[in-house]
Amino acid sequence: MCVGIAGYAFIAYAALPLGSLVHPDMKTNFENHKLMVYLHIFASSIALLIGPLQFSKKLRASKPRLHRTLGKIYLCVGVLLGGVAGLLMAVFAYGGLGSNLGFGILAVLWLYTGARAYWAIRHGDVLAHQRWMIRNFSLTLAAVSLRIYLPLTLVFGWPFDIAYPIISWLCWLPNLLLAEWIYNRPASV
Ligand code: HEM
Repeated sequence: MCVGIAGYAFIAYAALPLGSLVHPDMKTNFENHKLMVYLHIFASSIALLIGPLQFSKKLRASKPRLHRTLGKIYLCVGVLLGGVAGLLMAVFAYGGLGSNLGFGILAVLWLYTGARAYWAIRHGDVLAHQRWMIRNFSLTLAAVSLRIYLPLTLVFGWPFDIAYPIISWLCWLPNLLLAEWIYNRPASV
């Protein structure tokens, strides 16, 4: 799914004119903030592509240097650049205050969890690094969840201006709660 969404982003934003596949009001916003939009989409897609590889135990054990290099690209390009651009985009997101806050808090948490994960590993705390990275990647997956929920608005005929602010929360909050629950459930050690 990560590859699918990154592929969608690449086709929609590298091959088609800007905003071809979004709501007309979003298109106007995107045209007024081109640099930020392209920066957000291409940088965040890198996080989406690298993220799943980082959870492979086999890869971590056999190629620890690759894990470190990919991790730095994930954090510095994907999360930092993509997150700062995402935060700025949250200011003009379609759907008003609900969307501004939904995407804005997502961006702040994405940056914060990424910073904590990096801080932890720089101090040799592998367990804390793992926990913060699980939280961080559950937020990266907001890009996947969002694009599962969006077509549902069409299927069920929900008004987009009402559904979109709700989805701006729904795309990340359950992911984060699920990640917390999986990590903390009694069976996990
Ligand atoms: C997890 C932190 C993220 C935040 C805070 C965030 C924030 C945003 C915001 C605010 C918008 C604009 C919405 C609007 O104008 O109404 C947006 C759009 C977009 N984002 Fe993100 N995003 C994140 C992750 C990602 C990731 C990982 C990708 C990877 C593909 C991505 C790809 C896109 C795309 C392609 C759009 C344009 C809308 C579309 O074509 O569906 N975002 N994002």
